[in-house]
Amino acid sequence: MSIAVYTPFWYNLFKRMKTYSLHPESIRNLFNNIAHTYDFLNHLLSMRRDLYWRKMAVQELRGLDGWILDIATGTGDMALEIIQQNGHRRKVLGLDFSEPMVRKAQQKVMKKGLLRVIDLSLGDALFLPFRDHTFDASMMAFGLRNIVKKEQALSEIVRVVRPGAKVVILEFTFPQKGLMKRFYPIYFKKILPWVGGCISRDRGAYDYLPESVLHFRHAVEYEELMKKSGLGNVFSRQLTGGVASIISGIKKN
Ligand SMILES: C[S@@+](CC[C@H](N)C(=O)[O-])C[C@H]1O[C@@H](n2cnc3c(N)ncnc32)[C@H](O)[C@@H]1O
Repeated sequence: MSIAVYTPFWYNLFKRMKTYSLHPESIRNLFNNIAHTYDFLNHLLSMRRDLYWRKMAVQELRGLDGWILDIATGTGDMALEIIQQNGHRRKVLGLDFSEPMVRKAQQKVMKKGLLRVIDLSLGDALFLPFRDHTFDASMMAFGLRNIVKKEQALSEIVRVVRPGAKVVILEFTFPQKGLMKRFYPIYFKKILPWVGGCISRDRGAYDYLPESVLHFRHAVEYEELMKKSGLGNVFSRQLTGGVASIISGIKKN
């Protein structure tokens, strides 16, 4: 027996209003459109796990000082966490190509009085406007899956960090075993787009989120890319049953 689910006509209209693809312009529009609710929805939809994931990713930089490049910095939470964990010996440059996201980051940095240690810049991860060997480490949280030319983005990161520098990627992945493997896809593909769509008023953006993870589901796929781009000592660590993973590597000398 099949059960017909009633969907109001306005909901379908709303759903058709915007669709997003992995094209850079489309991705930029997506983040421009959801910047106002991005932080709130991030914390809500991840049940505040996103804060813990960033904390764990930044801990990978333990003992590292100097200039740290935070690519796809968005509303700046990663940049703030980097300073929070070892503020007095670090400076961060946060780069993103969405102006509304960077504006949000700027407001947060100003509010915390951290303008002295966090610089924000508009720019494209595929064409980093920095000289070779400029940074002491680099991070990217939830950015790489949005970039089609992942190899180019990674080789740009490798180019601008100094030899021996650490590169840390934090990304959504799919749980591979246990109850999480069974139930997480239901949450991620059905419930999350609905809640995200209602609150942000951009259903397309939250339909895109599970789509974007489907192409690169496993940390090992990121590991392979990182090795190809000239990083050594590459390894990954699963968080929250594999919902997110940290993948890190060291630029070879
Ligand atoms: C999901 S958000 C992550 C933001 C932040 N790192 C965090 O942890 O919340 C992804 C960000 O990547 C940025 N982005 C995507 N493609 C980019 C590109 N080619 N160059 C620069 N930023 C990009 C988007 O504008 C967006 O702010």
